[in-house]
Amino acid sequence: MPELIFRQPDGSTQLVSAENGSSVMQAAIRANVRGIEAECGGACACATCHVYIAPSDLLLIPAAKEEEEDMLDGVCAERREGSRLACQITVTDALGDMIIDIPDRQY
Ligand code: FES
Repeated sequence: MPELIFRQPDGSTQLVSAENGSSVMQAAIRANVRGIEAECGGACACATCHVYIAPSDLLLIPAAKEEEEDMLDGVCAERREGSRLACQITVTDALGDMIIDIPDRQY
């Protein structure tokens, strides 16, 4: 089971075991990671599961589809190169020890 590292804007981190096949958002919600709201429950319709992936780690996950790109246009915090929606990232072993930065706000 890969472990993900969620990092808050203040630099504090939380190590979370994530089930392969679940989404990064589901792993965060199960572990009560602060700052991931996921209001739409993973339907790619709210953008409150916005996270930042290090640009070098983006190669480890499939590129965002058009639907996700459209939602990323409306995120509340700054949109960056590594901006993704956590509900659209499937957990695989490749994500082990990946650092996932939480934005300073989702609203
Ligand atoms: Fe709503 Fe990800 S949970 S877009």
